[in-house]
This record gives sequence, C-alpha cells and structure tokens, in this order.
Amino acid sequence: MKKITIALDGFSSTGKSTLAKQIAKELGYVYVDTGAMYRGITYYAMQHQLVSEQYLDKEGLIAQLPQIKLQFKFNPALGFAEMYVNEVNIEQAIRTIEVSRLVSKIAEISEVRAKLVEQQQQMGKDKGIVMDGRDIGTIVFPDAELKIFMTASSKTRAQRRFEELVEKGQHVSFEEVLQNVEERDYIDTHRADSPLVKAHDAIEIDNSVMTKQEQFDVVMDLVQQKLYN
Ligand code: DC
Repeated sequence: MKKITIALDGFSSTGKSTLAKQIAKELGYVYVDTGAMYRGITYYAMQHQLVSEQYLDKEGLIAQLPQIKLQFKFNPALGFAEMYVNEVNIEQAIRTIEVSRLVSKIAEISEVRAKLVEQQQQMGKDKGIVMDGRDIGTIVFPDAELKIFMTASSKTRAQRRFEELVEKGQHVSFEEVLQNVEERDYIDTHRADSPLVKAHDAIEIDNSVMTKQEQFDVVMDLVQQKLYN
C-alpha cells in the first residue's frame, strides 16, 4: 500500500502527540515528536548554563550544536520512542515546566531550527511517518499529503496540561500553566523564523469540545481518503 506523510501542527497542548501516536500505531507508521527535539536542545542548554530565565548565551549554544546528538530510541515497554541527548535518556527531564518556560527562547534560534529541520527531513525521507510540531506542514514537509492544524481554546489546553503535570507529581498552579500556554502561543506565532501558521492546504480541527475518539475518527477518515484516492 502507498505510504504518505502526515504533518500535524498546532498550538501547544492541543493533544497533537496523543493523536499522532494513535494514528501512527493504527497505520504502522513512525511517529516523531519534534517538540521533544526542541526540548532536548533546551535541556542541554540548561545543563550547560547556556540558558536561564534571565540569560541566553546564543553564540555559546550555536558553537556547541555540532556536539549535541539527539536520538529517538524505541522503548517496547512503553510502546513509543524516548528522547536521548548524547546517549542519556531525557524523556522525563524534558517534560517539566522549567523546560516549557525556556524552550521558546531556544526554538527561536535559526541555527537550532536548521539543525533540527534537517534531521526531521532525513527521518521522513521514506514517508510512512506522522510528525507533530509547529512548522511541519509549512517548512519540514511542505509537500506532505495530509496536513492537520489543531487548535483549542487556551483555557481548555491549560486545563489538560495542568492535569497532566499534577498526575506526574509536579507542583504547579493552573494560573501558572495558563500563563505558560499563552506566552508560548505568543512567542510561537510571532518569532521571525518559521512562526506557527496554518499551512494554506492544512485542515483545521478545533478539539475544544471533541473527545479523543471523535478526533481520531475524523483524522482517520481523512487518511483513508488520501490513501485510496
Ligand atoms: O510540542 P511541544 O510543546 O513539546 O513543543 C515545545 C516547544 O518547541 C514549543 O513551545 C515550540 C517549539 N517547537 C517548534 O518551534 N517547532 C516544532 N516543530 C516543534 C516545537
């Protein structure tokens, strides 16, 4: 059967990764969470004192980029790939609110984007891939057969994110999470390099009042149309 490329873009905490994982599993495709890659570089920068709330050593980070090796390694017990930086598993460490607060600063750097986009294009060269992020349908795979753009109200998204963080045992307030979601929306849509925009040929799905099953069904219908038409 022919294989396609599925690009899933949208605002933070719209449930892109949950949906992308479900679709990839259903189709037997590779799933790539590009947000984890930006988070991986951010984590590295934090560990090497290159970034904090008050500070960014952009030139220092750019100089060290060639020595940052990002890899996804499949964990059969979990059923998905985990993020590694220089052979260390950082899957848990990149999901904290501290990383979320700093990642937009790092994702603005063109040299970082160029490195990650190249790696993403390489991973998708044989198609059969579901990739989620902010610039997948616009920059990484402008020729993707299916492009989805996901939105939901910022309150709905903050509530989902808040529940996720509390479940993981992190101490955060709803207001803090909402502020982070709104700040990231602003930075993601206003940065000079590859801002978050809906590709002209992307299909928009607002899942504020949709169940996970409903959105999965909608997207699988679209996939079937692309596969059989
Ligand atoms: O999807 P996420 O929340 O894990 O992404 C983390 C950050 O990385 C997000 O605030 C924006 C950035 N990002 C990006 O600029 N381009 C991508 N393709 C994916 C994520």
